Amino acid sequence: MKLKAVCMDSSNSSNSTSSKIAHLVYNGKTVELPVLSGSEGPEVLNITNLYNELDVFTFDPGFTSTASCSSNITFIDGEKGRLLYRGYPIQDLAEYCDFLEVAYLLLYGELPNIQKKDMFIESISRHTLVHEQISNFYRGFRRDAHPMAIMVGVVGALSAFYHDSLDIHDEEQRKIASIRLIAKMPTMAAMAYKYSMGQPFIYPKNNLCYSSNLLRMMFAVPCEEYLINPVLVRAMDRILILHADHEQNASTSTVRLAGSSGANPFACIASGIAALWGPAHGGANEAVLNMLYEIGNVDRIPEFIKRAKDKNDNFRLMGFGHRVYKNYDPRATVLRHTCHEVLDELGIKNDPLLNLALELERIALQDEYFIEKKLYPNVDFYSGIIFKAMGIPTSMFTVLFAIARTVGWIAHWQEMISDPTQKIGRPRQLYCGKSEREFVSLQKR
Ligand code: SDX
Repeated sequence: MKLKAVCMDSSNSSNSTSSKIAHLVYNGKTVELPVLSGSEGPEVLNITNLYNELDVFTFDPGFTSTASCSSNITFIDGEKGRLLYRGYPIQDLAEYCDFLEVAYLLLYGELPNIQKKDMFIESISRHTLVHEQISNFYRGFRRDAHPMAIMVGVVGALSAFYHDSLDIHDEEQRKIASIRLIAKMPTMAAMAYKYSMGQPFIYPKNNLCYSSNLLRMMFAVPCEEYLINPVLVRAMDRILILHADHEQNASTSTVRLAGSSGANPFACIASGIAALWGPAHGGANEAVLNMLYEIGNVDRIPEFIKRAKDKNDNFRLMGFGHRVYKNYDPRATVLRHTCHEVLDELGIKNDPLLNLALELERIALQDEYFIEKKLYPNVDFYSGIIFKAMGIPTSMFTVLFAIARTVGWIAHWQEMISDPTQKIGRPRQLYCGKSEREFVSLQKR
């Protein structure tokens, strides 16, 4: 089989242009594959007709070389460690915006002016409450239930309450479902935390900003006034911005695939929460803290670095490595700075966990194995240290990740649903099982 690209006339695809055609020669037949190019990043070979033309599938478990869709939302340059939301560098958004401003950008493609921002904030504020009966769901869980287990359940259950926003073909219903999900995630997350603590649920206050509301619903108690710390609010806002979207990661791809079947938005977001929970993905922030506790002190770092390199040991350095970034994850750089800000604000000097993380990072980045495999700290490496310093329990780390990523999931879900060429996602396989064989009755087996 040979593959070569030659320049031909342009081909029209919804979001891309091309002046090239690749030729695939297989079994004596030549197939033309349009080469599509976007605004940034690698070109793609359009293999939509490959099976019809050559009766073969492509094979790419883990999708390391596969573009599942075209998208205008987020761009990642893994080699250079660049991350753009709708074209804006993540560093600028983290520095100059608040979370709902970035949410508006991801959903609608442009940063809002003051009027549009105020209207968007107003629309979110109007939907922060959940139906009172939803609190009954929490009481069905054990107090020690993992909050991600609760979130998968209660977010999916929203589709049993909001029947007026389930029709995915109705743009207005899609919009109200999107607003409801973004608005209610902090409320439901805080309820999961309060339930685990045996404390009463705290209602949202619509005069507070998104991150202030989240922190207050988590940490306020009815018997005293909750004092909002602007440094912690800013840190939470920045963390939410950094976690809001990340192209076609595992959980976003899950939401797109669920949405492609026509499932309602609440079910799609619940599927994203379930996928995010895995320690290889959003669950890594919780796993990083557990790993740092296991390492215990800097003297044991070499032992764990050795284990991370040992093919016979399934231990991995959590918070290190990334499918796309082969350079520093730009989010980790921002979070390392935020980490110092939060610890300084809280008067936490010489935090043993941070010292351990910094030393682990220093040693790993000098190690030949990590250099050769281009393993750098990712977004999850520092977030857990900040959350812990803020008094957030480890089990809530991925829930906070899910609050932020709900915006990205919805942006991708909306983009997919609005694409006129959209169809149900249905990959094929390389079958290696038994060929057809004769049935043997029970008596003869
Ligand atoms: C997130 O996709 C996204 O964008 C995700 C995310 C987002 O915002 O949505 O960025 C959020 O999930 C960040 C990643 C969080 N996960 C972790 O920190 C868990 C630890 N990291 C690894 O499990 C791993 O790096 C992955 C899962 C993140 C990426 O795995 P890949 O791309 O499948 O790479 P791989 O497993 O094939 O590893 C390549 C090599 C392997 O060695 P060889 O088989 O080639 O000899 O690198 C090694 C791996 O063994 N390796 C590691 C390692 N990560 C990869 N070795 C030790 N420690 C690690 N952390």
